[in-house]
Amino acid sequence: MKLTLEEQKILNGEKGETLAKIMRTVVEFGDIFGAEKLVEITHDAHLVTSFGIGLIKPLFRIMDEIIGAGIKSKVKFTVDPRPIDYKNVKCGPLNKLIFSKIMYSQQKRYEEQLRKIGLRGKDDFTCTCYLDEVKNTPKMGDILCWAESSAVVYANSVLGARCNRNSGMLDIFSAILGKVPYFGLLTDEGRKADWVIEVKTTKLPEAQVLGSAIGLKVMEDVPYVVGLDKFLGNKLDHNAKDYLKDFGAATASNGAVGLYHINGLTPEAVKYGKEELVKDNAKVYVIDDAELERVKNSYPILWKKSEKKAQLAFIGCPHLSYTQLENWANDIINELQKNGLKKVQVRTILTTSPHVKAKFEKTKLYNSLIKTGARVSSICPLMYTNNPIAGKRRIATSSNKLRTYSSSRYYTNAEMLELVCSKGGAK
Ligand code: F3S
Repeated sequence: MKLTLEEQKILNGEKGETLAKIMRTVVEFGDIFGAEKLVEITHDAHLVTSFGIGLIKPLFRIMDEIIGAGIKSKVKFTVDPRPIDYKNVKCGPLNKLIFSKIMYSQQKRYEEQLRKIGLRGKDDFTCTCYLDEVKNTPKMGDILCWAESSAVVYANSVLGARCNRNSGMLDIFSAILGKVPYFGLLTDEGRKADWVIEVKTTKLPEAQVLGSAIGLKVMEDVPYVVGLDKFLGNKLDHNAKDYLKDFGAATASNGAVGLYHINGLTPEAVKYGKEELVKDNAKVYVIDDAELERVKNSYPILWKKSEKKAQLAFIGCPHLSYTQLENWANDIINELQKNGLKKVQVRTILTTSPHVKAKFEKTKLYNSLIKTGARVSSICPLMYTNNPIAGKRRIATSSNKLRTYSSSRYYTNAEMLELVCSKGGAK
């Protein structure tokens, strides 16, 4: 990689040993991918590692070394959701013991380390950092060093920013340097589509299943989706953005998609069009109702007693937007009323960013929702299921990411509503 004089000096240790090690890590990472240079980050960072798992001792050691050397990040950062929320996600004494003393024993220490290096605000813990309420929202063309896969794919695809699928630590090292290696999704060529996805369904597909189907097929390639604007329209309004948030998270977790284009809707598809964005030799994948059904039916059910009803339901992975939270609250209240019930039939946790939660808590709707027994939390459900005891419970989710990384069982949004709001529920 060709470095500037300034970068070379840092690499040579002229700005201290710690910064030299950070530079070396980022440069070697870039070299592996054939990066020709480093480029400047133009917007705040977002870190994927939000949890103080005692086992990852090297992380805490490195953070201490960075702090000891007096280094701060060049750009501020937000971080993925916290792993624990005892107030809203109830845990028994044994679960608490495992969470607090064994799994996330370093949480307090780690958050303090983050604060010292460049955490933006004390409650900036969410995977939906790009939402209006959180305000870590890049603009088209911004260069980023994010690592959370659902946020990377959103920033690239819906906002038109440029970011590779970085790993944890690479995100913070790049934020410290204020630079990232120039390759992959940062380049014009890397943003061209390898696949054309033809959506030929009779209605708007479930976002999480469509994303899953595409992710499983294209893996880390870039898909260009045609036929979806027929249902979503040609305006990136709240509904379209919420849909694409959930769709993208599924492409990124069921596969490893970092960027997709939606014909007539996402910024680069609108600006450049299919002709310019799709590679000549692109492959084609046709998705109709039957294909979506096939994909959904292929998900294994990992519950031990699969005939039994769920014990816990998580809604909101990635975290719900304000509109989604309002819609879910109204849907739960109305559906319970329709079924002559007052309380949710499964312990239900709606997850959203601390910022959206704080805004929602000021509303009458929040109080009505709480009366149903449902709770709002800013936890990461995946971090909850990482606990071997908690993870063994029959957890229902409407997230294809949570389904993929845990033994949670997937339900569509409509099935989830039925599960939560009816006596028999969706089994
Ligand atoms: Fe967000 Fe955690 Fe899901 S980081 S996307 S809530 S797994």
